[in-house]
Amino acid sequence: SKGDYPHYMLKEIHEQSTALRQTLSMALTDERIDESCLGDNAANILAGIEAVQICACGTSYHAGLVGRHLIETLAKRPCWVEHASEFRYRDPVVPANTLFVVLSQSGETADTLAALRYARTAGYAASLAICNVASSSLVRESDLQFLTQAGPEIGVASTKAFTTQLLGLDILALLLARHNGMDAITEAAITKHSLKKACFAVESVLSLDEQIRDIAQQLVDKQHTLFLGRGVMYPIALEGALKLKEISYIHADAYPGGELKHGPLALVDEDMPVIATAPGDKLFAKIQANLQEVEARGGQLFVFTDRPECFTASERCQVITMPHVDDILAPLVYTIPLQLLAYHVSVIRGNNVDQPRNLAKSVTVE
Ligand code: F6R
Repeated sequence: SKGDYPHYMLKEIHEQSTALRQTLSMALTDERIDESCLGDNAANILAGIEAVQICACGTSYHAGLVGRHLIETLAKRPCWVEHASEFRYRDPVVPANTLFVVLSQSGETADTLAALRYARTAGYAASLAICNVASSSLVRESDLQFLTQAGPEIGVASTKAFTTQLLGLDILALLLARHNGMDAITEAAITKHSLKKACFAVESVLSLDEQIRDIAQQLVDKQHTLFLGRGVMYPIALEGALKLKEISYIHADAYPGGELKHGPLALVDEDMPVIATAPGDKLFAKIQANLQEVEARGGQLFVFTDRPECFTASERCQVITMPHVDDILAPLVYTIPLQLLAYHVSVIRGNNVDQPRNLAKSVTVE
């Protein structure tokens, strides 16, 4: 049931800190990630892995894009990510000792399942499903499994499944890192100071709700929006744009900030809201410069940042102050306000938030 919430989506947005806590506690034994959270044979399999190929669809694909950054940064292993619907029709060249990873809330997405079945015959070292449904086809047909503990997700727009997938990918990246030279002290510090803080960090940004509703009010009559992010935040811009388009029906595009001047800057004028995620990470100065270009063209900026002092707030540049979080947690934490933004725009426009037109919760046909 929806309890006191008007929509499942809002309930599920609010359930994220609990979902993250449950997902992490399932993976920990004595405060350390226990390899067996991926299955009994996980230690043997992961020890031989040198590269990762991720396949997924939609929101789960965006989680995969974040996963690439985590796996390359923490585990120092190459990682590729592809839409499952495209992967299955390529003739991919399979590098030696590559783990094939599928991400899925439902575990029944036809394209993702077809990609897994194809991969199992194509020479990948092993397969892993990061999935929210224990009894699903993906879980049954893969060698390893990580079960996100998000609980049932009813709203068609995926929220808590996505953030728990991100946590699952953090865990996978740390386990691969353990087999590739990361020392136990570093790993313990990341577990303690990042992963164990995820649920609090996610909880704390829910208090931005009123401010976000005010932004939503400014977006409801727009025809187009542009989401920007850099590095690991680019997939979060993609996810923010997907959430907005699927439940508000406002066209939303997402770009890495550095691509602006290669085309999309031509779209920017006073009718083009630009929503940016700008955490104070190693690319902060880069996104800041990109946003100055937007401002100079008269665009309407909404900036989510933990460095509000670096922006001059005005009617054309509205700044939403985010908490400081570890780089590893930024994708998780910046997702929440973008989910709330899409939610409020959809509600104000009078749409069916939980059942957007033309979409199904589980896409079991190609
Ligand atoms: C968007 C959304 C979809 C799904 C996609 C894959 O909010 O929910 O894009 O993410 O259909 O579904 P799963 O994760 O069940 O494989």
